[in-house]
Amino acid sequence: MCGGPGCVCRISRRRLIGAAGAAGAAALGASACGSSGGGPEPYDALRGTVVAQTDDIPVGGGSVVIDGKLVVTQPQEGDFKAFSAVCTHAGCTIQEVERNIHCLCHGSEFDIATGDVRHGPANQPLEQLPITVDGTDIVLDEKDSGEGRG
Ligand code: FES
Repeated sequence: MCGGPGCVCRISRRRLIGAAGAAGAAALGASACGSSGGGPEPYDALRGTVVAQTDDIPVGGGSVVIDGKLVVTQPQEGDFKAFSAVCTHAGCTIQEVERNIHCLCHGSEFDIATGDVRHGPANQPLEQLPITVDGTDIVLDEKDSGEGRG
């Protein structure tokens, strides 16, 4: 079952082109599935902005924030992490965070501390993004620090 806006990724390219024309399909695919060709990522417009409040992120869990563009976690008290919410399996948007980060499209699970795959079918970790905690504000850094992946 598919419960997120990324479900459009399972629609074949042919169906997308038939429904929206080639240019529309390319744009739709990029917006729904994230970019893989060096273009802007869904979270790029958020760089330098506050993406969450520390009080809103449960210890030992996390939240999907900013309309599904990011996953912010708190594996241990006061230790915050941020990841792209684009699933590395087929591009669905991550829908929930409990003890792991869950993609409900096909059941992949990712570690809340590292983004590593805990359960497939995904075989690549989520992209980790650099953040800064300023008081209660969690700010997505302007530039990757080199610690992110992908
Ligand atoms: S897109 Fe298949 S598990 Fe996420």
